[in-house]
Amino acid sequence: MAPVSIRNIRKDYGSVNVLKDISVEIADGEFVVLVGPSGCGKSTLLRMIAGLEDISGGEISIDGKVVNDLPPKQRDISMVFQNYALYPHMTVFENMAFSMTLAGAPAAEKEKKVTEAADILGLTPLLKRYPRQLSGGQRQRVAMGRSIVRNPKVFLFDEPLSNLDAKLRVQMRAEIKALHKRLGTTIIYVTHDQVEAMTMADKIVVLNGGGIEQAGSPLDLYDTPRNAFVAQFIGSPSMNLLELENRAGQLVFENGEPSGLAAPANVDAGRTILVGKRPEDLVAAEAGVKAEVGVVEPTGSEIFAQLTIHGQAVSAVFRERIDIEYGTTIQVRFDHGATHYFDADIGKAL
Ligand SMILES: Nc1ncnc2c1ncn2[C@@H]1O[C@H](COP(=O)(O)OP(=O)(O)OP(=O)(O)O)[C@@H](O)[C@H]1O
Ligand SMILES: [Mg+2]
Repeated sequence: MAPVSIRNIRKDYGSVNVLKDISVEIADGEFVVLVGPSGCGKSTLLRMIAGLEDISGGEISIDGKVVNDLPPKQRDISMVFQNYALYPHMTVFENMAFSMTLAGAPAAEKEKKVTEAADILGLTPLLKRYPRQLSGGQRQRVAMGRSIVRNPKVFLFDEPLSNLDAKLRVQMRAEIKALHKRLGTTIIYVTHDQVEAMTMADKIVVLNGGGIEQAGSPLDLYDTPRNAFVAQFIGSPSMNLLELENRAGQLVFENGEPSGLAAPANVDAGRTILVGKRPEDLVAAEAGVKAEVGVVEPTGSEIFAQLTIHGQAVSAVFRERIDIEYGTTIQVRFDHGATHYFDADIGKAL
């Protein structure tokens, strides 16, 4: 177990700057999730921590020791990739023991460590099988088992669940969380699935365009996003951002219809801002703002609906079984739940 400290990290590929000035402090045993859109630099940062990419600037330390110039093997980390490859001609046991075999470990030690890891991962009955005789989730667990037997100070995961189907993903994410509770090892986990991030992380770091938009606990980011990017990235379906204007203290639509929300005190009259409402906080009501109904998706427990309100696309999630049909008009209210306010130009929270 070990803390990881990332200080002012930069990465350039030739003249292309991919990461700029990234700083994150990761406590001993913390589960940190890096999220962000494709190409924002998540894998690059993880690979730099692992020692698979040079560091262009800044410093990374693991367990108090600067590792910038240490080769991967000496960093005491273990990485599980999205495309984990198991050796097809080796059994589960042999796959899990492989790094120890390479290191010339005695048979008794291999037996002990693999048995322990297999027990933690529920792989004990499968140790004699070959990868082709396993399900996707079982293979994924073998890949994790290979990491566990190495007893690393830090686990690095790069989208380990993205090749699994939706149901297995949900199951595996609970298993990884349980594994973390059990081992207490520091984990740095990359995903672009914000639900994975919300459910597993102690701390989420939202990356975008090579920089950090915000870092904090999942509920911090959900409740107090620092800007419109984080507001829309965290939470599913995404937060709605409505363009509304402050007219005499009321937030109104372009044609002057009141939204039912008062303007915050720090917004000048006449100014247009982005008003954030989560889809689950919209309420269908007798008297509200008219909304044209687009696609309606009942899931059983909820109804997802695409709405258009004064030309603005809005998504809603209704937990009650309301009567709602494509092509009709309903009325909605905005004064339920939390409301977020952002600058319309730079997206900063107001
Ligand atoms: N060897 C390289 N040379 C030049 N640019 C690179 C190289 N490797 C990665 N990049 C660029 O660096 C940026 C970050 O890549 P990275 O793989 O870290 O993204 P990511 O956040 O992991 O994305 P994804 O979610 O798609 O996996 C991308 O714009 C990518 O094109
Ligand atoms: Mg990646």
